[in-house]
Amino acid sequence: DTILVLNGPNLNLLGKRQPEIYGRETLADVEALCRETAAGFGLTVDFRQSNAEHVMIDAIHDFRVGSAGIVINAGAYTHTSVALLDALNTCEVPVIECHISNVHRREAFRHHSYISLAATAVLAGFGKHGYALAIRHLAHLRAGKPA
Ligand code: DQA
Repeated sequence: DTILVLNGPNLNLLGKRQPEIYGRETLADVEALCRETAAGFGLTVDFRQSNAEHVMIDAIHDFRVGSAGIVINAGAYTHTSVALLDALNTCEVPVIECHISNVHRREAFRHHSYISLAATAVLAGFGKHGYALAIRHLAHLRAGKPA
């Protein structure tokens, strides 16, 4: 069973981009953590990043049915994209929204998320560990266990 871990715009620059907010670890470090965490539950990860909204929408379509779930850090599209919300609303699998930083202690425009309306759960401020927590939760849901 596979989990889609989908990263949006500017996350390719993780580690270099505003390290005081997002830390010094790279997206490759996040990917390694995701793979290791999923493997511990017998799951695999399809790890993707795109700066383009339509590529993210296509990825959601690829995993919306039959996968073990979706972990999405939509970056700034979180706060702007009705199209990503609509794509996530087609999902029959659980969707976990994940943010590296605690968006609620940042600018007001980061406090609202369109995609939360389609999210099973939301994580913010856990750094890269948020992704591992999200995968752990998807594994629990997959096993039919309660939260
Ligand atoms: C982010 C928070 C967003 O507000 C921002 O636009 C990002 C990253 C996070 O992981 O903390 O690009 O999603």
